[in-house]
Amino acid sequence: MNAFKTKLVGPFKQLLTFAELPHKGPLNDEKMPVIDNAGILLRGNKIEAVGVFDDLVEDWKIRDVDIEELQGAVVGMPGLIDAHTHICYGGSRADDYAMRNAGKSYLEIARAGGGIWRSVQQTRNASDEELAEGLTSRAIDHIRKGITTIEVKSGYGLSVEAEVRMLEIIKKVDQVLQVDLVPTCLAAHTLPKDFDGDHRAYLKYLIRELFPILKKDRLTDRIDIFVEETAFNYEPAKDYLLAAKEAGFDITVHADQFTAGGSRLAIEVGAISADHLEASEKNEIDLLAQSDTVAIALPGASLGLGMGFTPARKILDAGGSLAIASDWNPGSAPMGDLLMQAAVLGVYEKLSTAEVLAAITTRAARALNLTDRGSLEPGMLGDFVGFSCEHYKEILYNQGALKPRWTWKNGVRWR
Ligand code: NIG
Ligand code: FE
Repeated sequence: MNAFKTKLVGPFKQLLTFAELPHKGPLNDEKMPVIDNAGILLRGNKIEAVGVFDDLVEDWKIRDVDIEELQGAVVGMPGLIDAHTHICYGGSRADDYAMRNAGKSYLEIARAGGGIWRSVQQTRNASDEELAEGLTSRAIDHIRKGITTIEVKSGYGLSVEAEVRMLEIIKKVDQVLQVDLVPTCLAAHTLPKDFDGDHRAYLKYLIRELFPILKKDRLTDRIDIFVEETAFNYEPAKDYLLAAKEAGFDITVHADQFTAGGSRLAIEVGAISADHLEASEKNEIDLLAQSDTVAIALPGASLGLGMGFTPARKILDAGGSLAIASDWNPGSAPMGDLLMQAAVLGVYEKLSTAEVLAAITTRAARALNLTDRGSLEPGMLGDFVGFSCEHYKEILYNQGALKPRWTWKNGVRWR
């Protein structure tokens, strides 16, 4: 499409714009921003106007506007945003999954050669082409399901060289795919078994040797760390995150997955998001609510590990901001179906339709510090989806089985 060409897409029976919603706290369905019989006017890759379809036709009929007409009842909403994945990896952890379900503990599985370290070995052994192919096919699977922006973490390399390789592959795949990949460095995923030194020494090595390369080669603006008794403790993690901040990176933290503590650190260092939070209690929830750190629930990890869900209802009621992401990874969250997981979290946590859908659109955009997407309003990217149904409540009611019929990325229809 010509960069200045205008195009009108519609009519949508209902269009959920998610414009001007509060970023924090509960969202009542009565406040759901819905336009009936709506259209989206695109100019190049951006939204020029959103409104009633017939009014847009009337306003623009004297101009050179193509109309992309939709057939049947279509409910539209912003393209989904998955703010937390690990979809660049080699191999499979089907053995871990079967062992867990046969009653083995996480530690026993790690001792039997499973866990994160198994994925590190499989990823290191995979060729660049294999890693790129795996990442591409998962990203395409995601765009088919309506996801137009995907955060992707490294973290299965765990040496300067192997982490740089992962981030370079993510960058290359991003350049050829229509969907946007947002890379994050998770070199601090766990202490690699082949590192000659302790946790502190490993983090210092990353600060010294890896951070300058990330900056120089523009591989990522984001640093993540897994704060947990079995990964990195509070004190060394704090020094690491402060150094990352000092170097100009945005911060995100794997926090409170099995034990509480990481979220407090995330808030202290001004992280954009604190992710997981299955083990968060009142203290952590209150701190989150008072902060600007977005809480990201990862129901796919709860489903993959057979654990309780993040206390999403309590986080919202306390006044926090809630996003929902898939955590798609070979270990704890192999499913990768964001819409299904978000719908299921909504059932267990008693979330309104607006709360669930905002958590995978506008609030997820905020969790990635992206201001050009997540809602449908002038100036935003033309990222949106259309479901074949009569009413927006059908989307979550179908618990992920109803997938978008169409997806537009940067104003261009994917299928
Ligand atoms: O987000 N919690 C740490 N990291 C991942 C799991 C990674 C793995 O098991 O390979 C997660 O769940
Ligand atoms: Fe994760």
